[in-house]
Amino acid sequence: MMRLENGGRRWAGLLAGGLFLTTAAWTQAIAGGSELLPGDCIKCHDQAPLDIAKAGGAHKEKVSCVDCHVSHPPKSKDIIPKCSTCHADTPHFKLQGCVGCHSNPHTPLVVTIPSGITEPCLSCHSKQMTELQQEVSKHTAVACSTCHRERHGLIPNCTDCHSPHAEGQVQKDCLTCHKAHMPKNVTYPADISSKNCAGCHAAAYETLKKSTAKHAKLECATCHQEKHRMIPQCQGCHGAKPHAAAMHQTFPQCSQCHGTAHDLHK
Ligand code: HEC
Ligand code: HEC
Ligand code: HEC
Ligand code: HEC
Ligand code: HEC
Ligand code: HEC
Ligand code: HEC
Ligand code: HEC
Ligand code: HEC
Ligand code: HEC
Ligand code: HEC
Ligand code: HEC
Repeated sequence: MMRLENGGRRWAGLLAGGLFLTTAAWTQAIAGGSELLPGDCIKCHDQAPLDIAKAGGAHKEKVSCVDCHVSHPPKSKDIIPKCSTCHADTPHFKLQGCVGCHSNPHTPLVVTIPSGITEPCLSCHSKQMTELQQEVSKHTAVACSTCHRERHGLIPNCTDCHSPHAEGQVQKDCLTCHKAHMPKNVTYPADISSKNCAGCHAAAYETLKKSTAKHAKLECATCHQEKHRMIPQCQGCHGAKPHAAAMHQTFPQCSQCHGTAHDLHK
């Protein structure tokens, strides 16, 4: 979708061989309609050639100064090109304010990300928005660049904005239970340490740890599997009828003799 148009004339030969140019000669050259070569620019402009040399990317490799600046004052005042001259047709190229992000066209891939934006990101990323809308949470109303701030590709720490539930929890732990773009959809593996649950379920944690029954050695998530709030059936692990059938008929609830899962011998 690249369109390269060099409507203007290339200025050639103004300085063939010459290194110095007096103002008088300059004025004269311009007035006479002489043409500038890309190599001439550096004689009067230092920053742009420096930037391009350092991080010009495709604006160094695929185009030259005069492909973009097709004329020069005083001959023409209007010499700043429009991005759309060469970039058109994709959703990304239909955005407004290219230089809001590509703040220096001489270093096109050095992108600054304005705060509080979402729409422009969607010109390239769609999966994350789909996730945010599939499982609506308070993150759905947070702009992409409120989290992915400052520079493109930055991954924020959850703890930039939230306190952990339990001491010592780091980003990796948060992401074990939460997905960034669907944070309410909590899932976890069976071997996750019970300490991660303890911050919110202190009573259950204390009861279980104090118990002398063998359940005390199990992690919470060994029983409460995969999805938060799941309650397991005793029979799932111990079989439908661990005791004589007649006994189960008389006492249908395990809890009638075993107390609770967290404290069996009560
Ligand atoms: C002899 C010195 C000289 C050379 C060589 C020169 N420029 Fe300039 N350039 C100037 C001056 C002086 C101005 C300011 C002119 C004005 O504002 O009227 C300027 C202004 C500009 C501007 C800014 C215009 C604006 O609207 O702000 C651009 C872009 C530019 N030059 C690009 C180039 C490019 C590209 C080349 C090489 C092809 C080049 N110049 C070669 C002296 C030079
Ligand atoms: C891909 C197009 C493109 C190329 C290639 C390019 N420029 Fe520019 N240049 C621009 C645009 C767009 C602006 C206006 C930037 C802005 O509005 O902040 C600009 C601004 C300028 C300016 C005025 C502002 C400044 O930074 O001082 C100068 C001088 C300039 N360019 C010189 C050059 C020179 C010299 C080269 C080659 C070494 C060059 N440009 C190559 C697009 C280009
Ligand atoms: C004179 C034509 C021209 C103009 C004007 C122009 N570009 Fe480009 N730009 C190119 C070409 C050619 C490429 C390379 C495209 C490719 O390889 O498919 C490119 C590539 C880029 C890239 C990718 C750089 C890389 O190294 O991969 C960015 C970002 C970019 N342009 C932004 C801009 C922005 C922003 C503007 C306006 C300020 C602009 N361009 C104006 C010709 C231009
Ligand atoms: C909200 C910020 C933002 C805006 C606004 C923006 N861009 Fe980009 N652009 C980016 C980011 C981020 C990348 C990806 C850079 C990377 O791959 O590292 C990019 C990549 C590019 C590329 C190279 C990749 C490709 O898809 O070809 C070009 C060319 C480009 N932008 C041109 C433009 C033009 C032209 C405009 C205005 C119509 C514009 N951009 C507006 C942020 C922006
Ligand atoms: C022009 C297209 C383009 C635009 C616009 C763009 N991105 Fe990207 N983004 C990319 C590409 C290409 C990659 C690298 C490949 C990948 O990981 O998908 C990337 C990667 C990322 C990454 C992942 C980095 C990693 O470590 O995996 C994040 C986060 C990101 N972009 C966020 C954003 C946000 C937020 C915005 C809006 C402010 C945005 N992007 C705008 C093209 C773009
Ligand atoms: C509440 C903060 C937050 C918001 C809002 C957010 N993200 Fe993310 N995003 C993250 C975190 C944290 C990760 C790292 C996830 C991981 O490593 O599993 C991430 C990962 C990504 C990635 C890397 C690939 C992937 O999917 O894991 C991209 C691309 C991305 N986000 C784009 C976006 C876009 C686009 C938006 C807006 C529609 C957005 N994000 C909104 C926090 C956020
Ligand atoms: C840039 C700040 C920011 C970052 C980074 C961030 N969040 Fe949030 N998060 C928020 C805001 C704002 C809310 C809404 C708070 C409120 O209204 O009380 C929120 C809410 C939540 C909620 C409650 C959702 C609901 O709908 O009730 C969860 C869970 C959550 N975040 C988890 C995370 C996790 C996990 C991470 C890392 C992957 C993370 N957050 C990264 C800002 C952030
Ligand atoms: C063991 C799994 C697990 C881990 C690890 C975990 N969370 Fe949570 N988080 C949850 C559960 C479960 C909820 C409560 C959901 C509910 O109320 O139904 C929750 C709720 C939240 C909320 C909503 C507000 C609140 O406190 O109720 C935020 C914010 C949050 N977590 C952030 C984090 C951050 C940040 C980390 C990492 C430091 C993290 N979580 C680690 C499981 C976990
Ligand atoms: C951020 C706090 C938080 C974390 C972390 C957390 N939970 Fe919860 N959990 C809650 C809340 C809030 C409820 C709902 C309580 C209610 O309804 O009384 C709940 C409910 C439950 C229930 C269902 C209770 C019922 O009566 O139906 C179970 C089971 C449960 N959590 C297990 C766990 C396990 C296992 C972990 C660790 C893997 C964990 N929780 C981590 C906050 C949390
Ligand atoms: C996720 C599987 C699982 C679930 C659900 C489960 N248990 Fe267990 N239970 C175990 C394991 C593992 C042991 C230890 C076996 C061993 O070490 O021999 C155990 C041991 C026991 C014991 C022997 C205790 C001891 O200290 O000797 C009793 C009684 C028991 N379970 C009853 C129950 C009851 C009642 C329920 C429901 C409230 C239940 N279990 C739910 C896995 C489970
Ligand atoms: C052996 C399996 C097992 C283990 C291990 C286990 N639970 Fe439970 N949990 C259950 C069962 C079964 C119930 C349903 C009530 C009952 O029968 O005792 C339950 C009920 C709950 C409830 C809701 C009722 C209440 O007591 O508040 C919460 C919350 C809970 N468990 C959290 C936890 C946490 C946190 C851990 C780890 C510290 C944990 N559980 C360890 C099996 C288990
Ligand atoms: C009428 C009382 C009663 C009921 C109801 C009952 N149990 Fe038991 N259960 C016992 C007694 C007493 C023992 C101890 C037997 C022993 O030490 O040999 C026991 C032992 C067990 C053991 C440990 C077996 C071993 O070999 O160590 C498991 C597991 C168990 N029961 C599971 C269950 C489950 C699951 C239920 C509900 C479906 C249930 N029980 C219902 C009284 C009961």
